[in-house]
Amino acid sequence: MREGKLEDYRDCGVKIRALCEGESDVIAKMASVAGVLHNGMVDFFWTGFYRVVDGRLVIGPYQGTVGCLRIEFGRGVCGTAASKGETQVVPDVHEFPGHIACDPNSQSEIVVPIRDGEGELIAVLDIDSKRRGCFDAVDREQLEAMMAQVFS
Ligand code: SME
Repeated sequence: MREGKLEDYRDCGVKIRALCEGESDVIAKMASVAGVLHNGMVDFFWTGFYRVVDGRLVIGPYQGTVGCLRIEFGRGVCGTAASKGETQVVPDVHEFPGHIACDPNSQSEIVVPIRDGEGELIAVLDIDSKRRGCFDAVDREQLEAMMAQVFS
């Protein structure tokens, strides 16, 4: 694991909790999460959400280069995380069957399903890195806990 990763997550968590406390607007919270993580974590190249809208995933809010606007459930890493309801940690995107290459610079990726207080899937958090093997079990644990605090 990269040195300082846990400390960076802790600092981001403090900022995200401070920003989102008492906020009910889901988009405002997603925008704040994307802004804090993208600027606070090393190697995060694309950081944002695909929301569940009419049974498909629709982009935004996010920070980074342009991404594809809509993704079907079951397609790519985001669609797989959404249809399985499970976090996908992908150390090398070239080895993930059906990976959607929105930006050729992306080398590794993590996608975390986001649920509301009723347990309904409302979005996925998608984070891409230019560095291969950027994400591991620590990222999964930290991001899942952080997202549950903010959105559940
Ligand atoms: N890589 C994603 C597509 C979205 S972007 O990278 C912004 C996927 O395969 O789901």
